[in-house]
Amino acid sequence: MINIVILAAGQGKRMHSNLPKVLHSVAGKALAQHVIDTARGLSPERLVVVYGHGGDMVRDTLAAPDLHWAEQAQQLGTGHAVAQALAQLAPVEQTLVLYGDVPLTTAATLARLIEAGKGGLSILTMALPDPTGYGRIVRDAAGNVQCIVEEKDASPEQKAIREVNTGIMAIPTARLGTWLDQLNNDNAQGEYYLTDIVALAVAEGMPVRTAKPAHDWEVLGVNSKVQLAALERQYQLNLATRLMLEGVRLLDPARIDIRGTLKHGRDVSIDVGCVFEGEVELGDGVEIGPYCVLKDVKVAAGVRIAPFCHFDSANIGPDCELGPYARLRPGVELAARVRIGNFVEVKKSRIDEGSKVNHLAYIGDAEIGQRVNVGAGTITCNYDGANKFKTVIEDEAFIGSDTQLVAPVRVGRGATLGAGTTLTKDAPPDTLTVSRAKQVTLTGWNRPTKIKK
Ligand code: UD1
Ligand code: CA
Repeated sequence: MINIVILAAGQGKRMHSNLPKVLHSVAGKALAQHVIDTARGLSPERLVVVYGHGGDMVRDTLAAPDLHWAEQAQQLGTGHAVAQALAQLAPVEQTLVLYGDVPLTTAATLARLIEAGKGGLSILTMALPDPTGYGRIVRDAAGNVQCIVEEKDASPEQKAIREVNTGIMAIPTARLGTWLDQLNNDNAQGEYYLTDIVALAVAEGMPVRTAKPAHDWEVLGVNSKVQLAALERQYQLNLATRLMLEGVRLLDPARIDIRGTLKHGRDVSIDVGCVFEGEVELGDGVEIGPYCVLKDVKVAAGVRIAPFCHFDSANIGPDCELGPYARLRPGVELAARVRIGNFVEVKKSRIDEGSKVNHLAYIGDAEIGQRVNVGAGTITCNYDGANKFKTVIEDEAFIGSDTQLVAPVRVGRGATLGAGTTLTKDAPPDTLTVSRAKQVTLTGWNRPTKIKK
């Protein structure tokens, strides 16, 4: 069993932001939340987050029943940070230390580190062509780890070492307290370095082993918006690669953003510039054109979505054709083969099989039957300024262009509304209802002419 301590007290000065660093997001999720989620995957006995800068905001944002919190009021170093969590640790064999600003470490890599650390201490390390800024892993002639020396305290020979400390370690819990007590801040930065426990472990004859991350990006941290953007791209590329390996056609894997989960069937195709948020499900054969934003949407098989659509919380039935420029707002249910065209906004409405709303319309709080045709410019006047009312349009009705349906109102089965109708009373089935004034032509009328000054 293990404890996990996540260090998240740093301010992140170089982010130039009022938001604490660990709350900046990758893929729409806070950096520290990524770390917490990965940590949970390892089923720790205790999961402790060390927080400091932006304390309340960090706690409120990340709050969850399984998290324990340790405040580090002043950031006196990584060793001091871990010491704040000590009282909350369970007496289990190992304690894994993670950084709240290193979001992409995989559970598989951490599992290997934990394995390597059994019966001793283990450090996640890697070799870098340019190790500047990192703590160096100092080994003896036999290759055994002796200590970690920070860049600012390193001799020129030590600076030449390319193997660096990623900061992630698995430490024997039983020794941790004793070692932390022995730390001092007598170093170039005046900090209590967690890394100094390595030399203490070696002095006790405890085995110190290393493990390597499977990919370099797993141990990249965020100190600036530049690094944040780089990690965002890496995360998105990882997801895009997985989708393609699962059979999704991405026209350009560098131009897709998934901020949540994307489930898919077979032969799904996604053009460039699409953003998926929350939980999105795409059925077999779904085709999505360029620059669409889909949030919490379920799309059944065979649906085609033309460019520039924006859907939020909608349930789309099979073989619908949507867009370009269609907008579905929360609470939309579309049955099979519905057509929603350009500049059509639909909100909290159900549209049944085979109905069409093809151009420039607003459909809100409506229930539309099967094979209904809603003409261009139709508006459901669902709101009187105080309350919302429902519009019902029964099967096979034909709504002429530029019609206003003043809710609550019902259009009967097979009814036709003439173009330009302002419907304030129910329209009976199978009849034509019109509300326009009679067309007149005034013969004696002259066009106004410009008045000369
Ligand atoms: C640390 C390591 C270094 C390693 C590098 C990897 C030490 C002494 N050095 O250096 O060997 O190569 O990480 O990036 O451990 N934090 C707190 N409280 C503190 C100090 C830090 O919570 O008092 C948190 C930070 O928010 C951050 C993490 O610990 O998430 C690492 O701190 P940082 O200052 O970035 O460590 P480095 O000096 O880069
Ligand atoms: Ca750092």
